[in-house]
Amino acid sequence: MKILLIGKTGQLGSDILKNNTKHDIFAPDRNELDLSNSIATSDIVKKVKPEVVINTAAFHNVLLCEKEYAQAFRINCLAVRDLACICKEMGSWLVTFSSDYVFNGKKMSAYLEDDTPSPLQIYGITRLAGEYIASSTAPENAIVIRTCGLYGVSGGKSKGGNFVDQRIKDAKINQRIEISCEQIVSPTYTEDLSLAVLKLIENPKMECGIYHLVNEGACSWYDFTKAIYEIMGIEIELTAVNRHGLDNGIRRPLYSALANTKAKRMGIVLPHWEDAIKRYLQEKY
Ligand SMILES: NC(=O)c1ccc[n+]([C@@H]2O[C@H](COP(=O)([O-])OP(=O)(O)OC[C@H]3O[C@@H](n4cnc5c(N)ncnc54)[C@H](OP(=O)(O)O)[C@@H]3O)[C@@H](O)[C@H]2O)c1
Repeated sequence: MKILLIGKTGQLGSDILKNNTKHDIFAPDRNELDLSNSIATSDIVKKVKPEVVINTAAFHNVLLCEKEYAQAFRINCLAVRDLACICKEMGSWLVTFSSDYVFNGKKMSAYLEDDTPSPLQIYGITRLAGEYIASSTAPENAIVIRTCGLYGVSGGKSKGGNFVDQRIKDAKINQRIEISCEQIVSPTYTEDLSLAVLKLIENPKMECGIYHLVNEGACSWYDFTKAIYEIMGIEIELTAVNRHGLDNGIRRPLYSALANTKAKRMGIVLPHWEDAIKRYLQEKY
């Protein structure tokens, strides 16, 4: 298949490129394809004529989205509309990503693909708008994959490094660390996610709509941090704190673990998060 991949320098994009063995992937960098530029974006899709566009790019620094809301809306919603328009016109699939932050976390158990979203902050609102615009613009071509808590070898530079790498850096300069224990999430290794995305697009039963692709299981950021330090043999005083989902005045969902039910019916399941974090630490450290 001919694929146009957007976001090749990111955690997920770089793992999709690394794990691809079958497809002809054209992966421009941001200088060649900037999603802020509608005309350049559709020109490149027209030129490449892909069967599938995979858009892993996003404006996903949650705090920055509150300040730079116009740019967040531009990338997370309007650029998705641009891609959906051109994919519909060309009969290509659009595979684009969204987030657990479309939910408010009040369900207090893992969210299913068809649970009702209700985001708590600008970031989640722009992601939900992106989901709606993808499915309303190209109802038969658009696939939205929600995922959660990504970490990958390339590191997540837009957030100043991913959660795992930040905790390892913290441990080098602190003897005592406080981590919030109230938010329950599905931390997900982009190695596993990238393989699942490739399996999904290769599956002849793939249908448009929303999918949840995350490592199995759920944990708090505190539990996740504890596992990281245990696996690495790092001895540190780790304290669980309840911040009630608040971060610099921004509300975050208390329970945003995602349940994969739709892709699971197609035989696509990611390993458990405890297995994933061991492999990541072994690979990177
Ligand atoms: N990270 C998480 O915890 C998390 C959680 C839930 C959902 N997700 C979603 O999963 C997807 C993949 O996340 P990730 O962690 O792999 O992201 P990432 O590491 O931050 O990578 C983002 C990629 O998008 C590119 N990009 C950003 N703005 C762009 C623009 N205007 N035009 C073209 N390219 C642009 C970046 O290019 P540069 O290298 O040039 O900046 C980078 O290649 C995203 O949709 C993300 O929101 C992530």
